[in-house]
Amino acid sequence: MAAKLILDDQSIDLNVIEGSEQERAIDITALRNTTKHITLDPGYGNTGSCKSSITFIDGEKGILRYRGYPIEELADNATFPEVMYLLIYGKLPNKEELGNFNHDMTYHSMIHEDMKRFFDGYPRDAHPMGVLASMVAALSTFYPENTPEDVDKNVIRLLAKMKTLAAFAYKKTMGQPVIYPQNHMTFEENFLNMMFAVPCEPYVIDPVITDALRLLLILHADHEQNCSTSTVRMVGSSQANLFISISAGIAALWGPLHGGANQRVIEMLTKIDADGGNFKKYVAMAKDKSSGFKLMGFGHRVYKNFDPRAKILKAASDKLLNKLGVSDPLLQIAKELEDIALKDSFFVDRKLYPNVDFYSGIIYRALNIPTRMFTVMFALGRLPGWIAQWMELRNEPGGRISRPRQVYTGENVRKFVPIAER
Ligand code: COA
Repeated sequence: MAAKLILDDQSIDLNVIEGSEQERAIDITALRNTTKHITLDPGYGNTGSCKSSITFIDGEKGILRYRGYPIEELADNATFPEVMYLLIYGKLPNKEELGNFNHDMTYHSMIHEDMKRFFDGYPRDAHPMGVLASMVAALSTFYPENTPEDVDKNVIRLLAKMKTLAAFAYKKTMGQPVIYPQNHMTFEENFLNMMFAVPCEPYVIDPVITDALRLLLILHADHEQNCSTSTVRMVGSSQANLFISISAGIAALWGPLHGGANQRVIEMLTKIDADGGNFKKYVAMAKDKSSGFKLMGFGHRVYKNFDPRAKILKAASDKLLNKLGVSDPLLQIAKELEDIALKDSFFVDRKLYPNVDFYSGIIYRALNIPTRMFTVMFALGRLPGWIAQWMELRNEPGGRISRPRQVYTGENVRKFVPIAER
């Protein structure tokens, strides 16, 4: 299969590559050598940056699969460590492999005591995403080795330690002593215990809560070449180490147009609630470009019919709140907002639907996770996806450093004028 590009009077044949789900891409790698042209695609809306065998998304049909497994099946049946293993090593683990993986992930979950002291240096109201990004970067100073064997160990270290760092970041904001990880607990139990136990009162594990956390972590685990994952790959392409590459991904995730949207959704719903539940006013504002206001948790670069993760979370939030006997006025506002927006031609024409961040916050609230920790929760879920993508890039034969081009629009050459003559 080939594509033909006619440029002035030149005809250029370009290869067409087909993926395993019949996605087609025009390979333009030779274009600059042949014609001196580059392609321009700000925001990379139509640019494939790599070939990948990790996650498949069909945005029109609302399909999301990790390594071929539909997200709905994983959400119903898998544990989070199984999904981590699947994403990173490419297959579901057998019993023994999962046992070893779980063992390693618990036995590496403490952080060096010297690192614990870093937490003392942050201001009390430091945003936990800033703390997490810098603490993950700091892991590279404790584990600086970067050979393939070291990388395998560092993968486990990072998977095991990130939940500890996240919980410690929260304890810092609360002014409470940190709670150390416990080897007999599952991933979710361990994290919740480190978050909510205090020396004078143990945390009581509730399976309803650990299962809701499991679901959230799985739904966030990977999403192919989004902003933070592309950042991880971009940094990793210079052969930077795992920790610093993931730290860059955490930084990218923090932005309100990406993972930071989950915090903004709850802030928006709270504001609407305080404003007497007048959601029509906010829909009108979102339609008025001059207002600078967007409906947070709406819209997606890839999903153009529905986000399968949002669909799962909407149903899960109803069930969870019922089970826990929690009534959250924000859930009602979210549903009414969704109803109105989905009937409004502004949103329909632009194919704007609720995304994963729209309902995840309602669940995090029901689990007592504070709003400023929401994006940290996203990062905790996304970690295995980032690692899998970083490993895929690293193991790719002939991998090249990421280095996009540009179309220069600045001044033409001019002569320097000394300061006395300006
Ligand atoms: N509220 C109101 N209008 C929105 C909107 C929102 N949440 N999201 C997109 N739009 C509008 C844009 O203004 C644009 O309108 P136009 O064609 O008249 O100019 C159109 O819909 C297309 O949006 P665009 O910004 O080009 O899409 P994108 O693919 O570049 O951006 C998002 C995707 C996710 C960044 C964007 O939808 C957004 O900012 N959403 C809110 C933040 C969010 O929830 N992020 C989490 C993503 S999982």
